[in-house]
Amino acid sequence: MWGGRFTGQTDPGFAAFNNSFQFDRRLFEVDVAASIAYSQALENANAISVDEGRQIRSGLESILRNGLTDDSQAEDVHSFVEARLVELIGDAGRKLHTGRSRNDQVATDFRLWLRQAIDHLDATLRITQTALLDFAETNSEVVIPGYTHLQRAQPVLLAHWCLAYFEMLARDRKRLLDARRRVNIMPLGSGALAGTSFPIDREALAKSLGFEGVSQNSLDAVSDRDFCVEFLSACSLIMVHLSRLAEDVIIYATTEFGFFGLGDAIATGSSLMPQKKNPDSMELVRGKAGRVFGDLVGLLTTLKGLPLAYNKDMQEDKEAVFDAFDTVTSSLQVSSTVLANITVNEVALGGYMNATELADYLVRKGMPFRDAHDVVGRVVIRAIELEKQIEEIEIDELRKFSTLIEADVYDALSIEQTINAKSQTGGTARASVKESLARARRALAESSPGR
Ligand code: ARG
Repeated sequence: MWGGRFTGQTDPGFAAFNNSFQFDRRLFEVDVAASIAYSQALENANAISVDEGRQIRSGLESILRNGLTDDSQAEDVHSFVEARLVELIGDAGRKLHTGRSRNDQVATDFRLWLRQAIDHLDATLRITQTALLDFAETNSEVVIPGYTHLQRAQPVLLAHWCLAYFEMLARDRKRLLDARRRVNIMPLGSGALAGTSFPIDREALAKSLGFEGVSQNSLDAVSDRDFCVEFLSACSLIMVHLSRLAEDVIIYATTEFGFFGLGDAIATGSSLMPQKKNPDSMELVRGKAGRVFGDLVGLLTTLKGLPLAYNKDMQEDKEAVFDAFDTVTSSLQVSSTVLANITVNEVALGGYMNATELADYLVRKGMPFRDAHDVVGRVVIRAIELEKQIEEIEIDELRKFSTLIEADVYDALSIEQTINAKSQTGGTARASVKESLARARRALAESSPGR
């Protein structure tokens, strides 16, 4: 590929270190597609003849049909395709790289690949969102404790908990689709760094490859990997969300919590302890978050301080992005499977989670909230002494704390009332949650997979 300037051989150890074909082979299809479009642009610019253009395209199509083969000689996917082409059609193949560099080529290929990857990931996120809604609807009656500081706080519907994760993934999808707009810009025509001397119509070329526009500065275009960082950052947030879901499921499936039972399909046993059923599925999802953050921080660190324009350091972008894509995809898939394999147990709702409701009751009877807070705090101390829940305390005993308390307090203290009082948008009242579920279903139906 660059033999003319060299008389000696590449050291085999360095060649192995330098080569990227073992991982950038994933760009094979997009590399061929970009070259097919580029040959047409060269032909339109009279940089190659109509016949050469035809030969190049039929050669590239047959390379695509034959698929990837193992080639220990190939430095990267670009040199692999070009070498096959020259083998196949001879001299015309040697003209394809006219005015092009692997620098603008790889940036173009990677953007084409990532565009597809984002669409794929969007569809996978949508499947996990569906699994959350299915889980919510299967268990629509269930109330669980809501927590702050992992201390029982106020009861919520299990469906409300599911919808919290649904919202996170909805934002993740928007983030990816926003990043996609910046991915979908074509660097081709930037040459190695300075631009191209051939009169190719970049706009037409971009259009033929489905790009929304062309890059505006050749130095920037060949060295910009912001789009990779944005993708890795969106992937990292997805993993933050999945790891929190994982942690909730892991905790809720302990004997101590006992809310969830894990199906055999997504749990593992112990080689030593016969009674064990371990949530390895969700532990791995939680653990793999670290790996994706590593991909992000690794690439940021690689890019920091690089002089313009292209430097070989940037070849490190690929493994990070591929790994994040694979890891997030499989983590989403496993999370969906886990959600379909959880059984929900009867949950005991003790723990004074209706204390705030008693304070709100006193407020409705005219007491300032701070006073009500204080009164109820003392009621809770008494309840603990009596080893009772608040609603199990006799009315006469309750009235010692405030004569505003009357017989209707027991209705206010019921779990149903506690839940249903939260009836504003975003609250856990049964009616609000039912509406949110319907809205979520509609949103999913409208956002067809991959746009
Ligand atoms: N494999 C290279 C990469 O992924 C392609 C670009 C090589 N460019 C160069 N000037 N050596 O970055």
